[in-house]
Amino acid sequence: MFIMCMFAADKVGLPSSPPYLSIRSASNKTNAFIGGVSFASGGAGILDGTDKLFKQAIPLSKQIEYYSTVFTELVQQIGTVEAQKHFSKSLYALVIGSNDILGYFGGLGSNLHLKNTPQELTDSMALMLKGYLKQLYNLGARKFVMVGVGAIGCCPSQRNQNKTGACKEETNYWSNKFNQNVKSLLQEMKTELKDINYVLFDTYNVLLNFIQKPADYGFTEVKAACCGLGNLNANVPCLPIAQYCPKRTDHVFWDLYHPTEAAAKIFVDTIFDGSQQYVYPINLRKLIAL
Ligand SMILES: *[C@@H]1O[C@H](CO)[C@@H](O)[C@H](O)[C@H]1NC(C)=O
Ligand SMILES: *[C@@H]1O[C@H](CO)[C@@H](O)[C@H](O)[C@H]1NC(C)=O
Repeated sequence: MFIMCMFAADKVGLPSSPPYLSIRSASNKTNAFIGGVSFASGGAGILDGTDKLFKQAIPLSKQIEYYSTVFTELVQQIGTVEAQKHFSKSLYALVIGSNDILGYFGGLGSNLHLKNTPQELTDSMALMLKGYLKQLYNLGARKFVMVGVGAIGCCPSQRNQNKTGACKEETNYWSNKFNQNVKSLLQEMKTELKDINYVLFDTYNVLLNFIQKPADYGFTEVKAACCGLGNLNANVPCLPIAQYCPKRTDHVFWDLYHPTEAAAKIFVDTIFDGSQQYVYPINLRKLIAL
């Protein structure tokens, strides 16, 4: 969800971070990297190979590898002490996990479900994630912004699998389970590595609020995608052949998987200034101030 990072950068008063692949050959790498770098990739997962269909995503493992080159470069250029200082103030935002779950529960051509139970899936996602967060810690990271997965069973592609058009309960159950795993792993990390701080955003319940009380948030359509074709506009992604709705700001979902800009904006506002009910244990404004 690159759009969330753009809104977040805006809130923090920074320009949005350029993608790593566009600046890795810059002549002055220090200058290119020092203001922040985006490693985000559409379709990426915590586990390798979420993108069976197009094979173009950069999985989290590769994103961390790319980050380690940025780390090494900055340490060489500005020295260990300055670099550590810089990294300890930096924010490490992770919006990841929904593609692993979507892949498992249908729609992205994965056959993971033939080999693993959903319990095994969510456990291994959390285990791998913990390993990656520790790698980031060893590479200087101290402030983490972790965005939990939404109620994935309510995205149009999942509703489309239910004859009644209601949310898929099993997918929501495991989305919630994964979020709980993430909550405990962050608490464990905080106990082990005393000098980290984090924000964990409860995307799941904020999204459910949109669906249950749409008018409170300015939405009128919570089921169908704005852009697509077929039932709930969820048979086809937002390709040139698709149709799109006249007023996207009243939709929660842009396409069969992703929230609209209007929904992302509320997510980011909540991450920044929300109460402990939705951003745990502190909000982003407080994390920045630490
Ligand atoms: C590269 O950029 C950094 C940070 O903006 C600056 O301090 C440094 O002088 C630059 N190095 C060169 C060789 O221009
Ligand atoms: C489909 O929706 C109904 C409610 O209309 C719900 O009871 C049922 O569990 C859903 N089916 C699946 C597979 O999630």
